[in-house]
Amino acid sequence: MTVSDRAFRGAYEDRGGPAIQQWLEEVLSSAWKGVPLLVPDEQDQIEQGLISLCDDGGCSLVITTGGTGPAPRDITPEATVAVCDRLLPGFGELMRLESLKSVPTAILSRQLAGIRGSSLIINLPGKPAAIAECLDAVFAAVPYCLDLIGGARLETRPERLVAFRPGATMSS
Ligand code: MTE
Repeated sequence: MTVSDRAFRGAYEDRGGPAIQQWLEEVLSSAWKGVPLLVPDEQDQIEQGLISLCDDGGCSLVITTGGTGPAPRDITPEATVAVCDRLLPGFGELMRLESLKSVPTAILSRQLAGIRGSSLIINLPGKPAAIAECLDAVFAAVPYCLDLIGGARLETRPERLVAFRPGATMSS
């Protein structure tokens, strides 16, 4: 789900959504289908988009890109908090820590993750380069998280990314 006023009104092409799709195609070996969504930086539209993906779209994993910074219209984390039952602070902490290796401005992102029902929502910054950096950092824990909340079972290509499931002998 891309959150961007400018991409929404066609001022530039959405590169974040396709970058997320490409990263998941590289990493996931289990069958999955992406549901792309492009919304402006409006809290109610972000919330409605998240709710529809989680509750109606059957999406176990919802990844947003954009709107996590300190600018007045950056509102994605607030919308995410509003629709989540519980937050997972470790995701934001680790993504910022990893991103800091690339850019000093990584600390400006308020990106977070949380659970809505049996769906996991993860915020990423709007820069396309941030997508692989952040997902590479946290994704090893995502399949087990989905197991725990009753989401879809995800398998990864171990040569690309090893999913960690405590107690499991196999990588997936
Ligand atoms: N994280 C990574 N990995 N790479 C980046 O280029 N940009 C930072 C930060 N996190 C960045 C990053 C910057 S400049 C900003 S302002 C914040 O993310 C918020 O970006 P957003 O509002 O597009 O979500």
